[in-house]
Amino acid sequence: MENLSPRARELEAIEIASRDEISALQLKRMKWSLTHAYENSPFYNKRFDEAGVHPSDLKTLSDLAKFPFTTKKDLRDTYPFGMFAVPREKLARIHASSGTTGKPTVVGYTAKDVDTWASVVARSIRAAGGRAGDLVHIAYGYGLFTGGLGAHYGAERLGCTVVPVSGGMTERQVTLIQDFKPRIIMVTPSYMLSILDEFRRQGLDPRESSLAVGIFGAEPWTNAMRDEIEHAFDMHAVDIYGLSEVIGPGVASECIESKDGLHIWEDHFYPEIIDPVTGTILPDGELGELVFTTLTKEGLPIIRYRTRDLTRLLPGTARSMRRMEKVTGRCDDMIILRGVNVFPTQIEEQILKCRGLTPHFQIELTRSGRMDDMTVHVECTLEAADEAARGLSAKELTHHIKSVVGVSTKITVHPPGDVVRSEGKAKRVVDNRPRE
Ligand code: DLL
Repeated sequence: MENLSPRARELEAIEIASRDEISALQLKRMKWSLTHAYENSPFYNKRFDEAGVHPSDLKTLSDLAKFPFTTKKDLRDTYPFGMFAVPREKLARIHASSGTTGKPTVVGYTAKDVDTWASVVARSIRAAGGRAGDLVHIAYGYGLFTGGLGAHYGAERLGCTVVPVSGGMTERQVTLIQDFKPRIIMVTPSYMLSILDEFRRQGLDPRESSLAVGIFGAEPWTNAMRDEIEHAFDMHAVDIYGLSEVIGPGVASECIESKDGLHIWEDHFYPEIIDPVTGTILPDGELGELVFTTLTKEGLPIIRYRTRDLTRLLPGTARSMRRMEKVTGRCDDMIILRGVNVFPTQIEEQILKCRGLTPHFQIELTRSGRMDDMTVHVECTLEAADEAARGLSAKELTHHIKSVVGVSTKITVHPPGDVVRSEGKAKRVVDNRPRE
């Protein structure tokens, strides 16, 4: 693997500023953002009035706690353009979430927002070890999803040469990697596994590929998965986080020299951690729901947005800005099985401990009588494909899940290629329980 040492002179001054400097900038920008939202977004004007708060009530950063939360439902209720703080004509770009149920959530960017976004993604790629002149293969989906275009503008901003492949057509992805020789790939970790399969199917050694760095995000993935991908491709794998409501990819990103969680670009996005049930603010270090307030966004300023993502805030290391731990999962993806909380990432970790299994998996929920059952569908490796080996792998995984996660599960070990492949965000849980 390439040895990449940080080059401080290449960083923006704010990335290594003192905490005092960062807090002073945040306070100034937070005052602006609350005032902008209150004066220009009818939604926030009403919301603040109803809560009896005014932007002038914010004297210190901790006064943010007086302001009400924003949720996904607020975006749905104001569909499509009801939360914007600028006239539609002033927007340069619209994106939207896929909206698997009901209508999508719509977000809008002014030209300045697109510029800010490009700068935080450029910062993220640089933190991952990218430099001007690098060839960047982007396999995040282009379109209403923020992954493709967000990565694209950031890579261009850094001065990279962009290959805008988008997701899908996996055979062609491999051909382009072999022919163009990108140094960097930006893609969901689950789709990277599909690309890995395709390398092997074509008889190519992925460790011989040109790829030196992968910037993976848009879905939860574990450090065990990092090891798996780094070993398979002989490359660095770093995490990038974001969500369309806040801006898209580039809200937080890992540094290649530390790989110890994601630095939140706190000069643009102010984080809080709350108890997901009571809404109480939790101190740094405690696990809870991540909440964001945008500090500079014009088109759609968002105040105390409840992400539903579970993580904890940690002090800065490679940069002065605070880190968030790798996301455990979304509150919505938490499975409660006979009283035990289970996240798909916990299952991923256990699968990766078993030598006869591949990282492709899906969790199926069913109900027999009043009891919920969980079946983990997972795939064996080519070397452990006979019935006896599959039986042993199933036994091993059952044991790991029971002893570490604390639940009894059914395990079905499928032959290679049988578990559904991802081309973007993986669907980890299939709920086949009867609707009540
Ligand atoms: O997924 C933005 C993005 C694109 C991030 C490409 C990184 C790379 P949404 O479609 O709005 O935006 O989905 C946001 O995806 O609330 C998390 O639940 C999840 N998510 C995003 N990045 C990560 C990550 C994009 N690194 C939702 N780890 C978020 C875990 C992630 N979950």
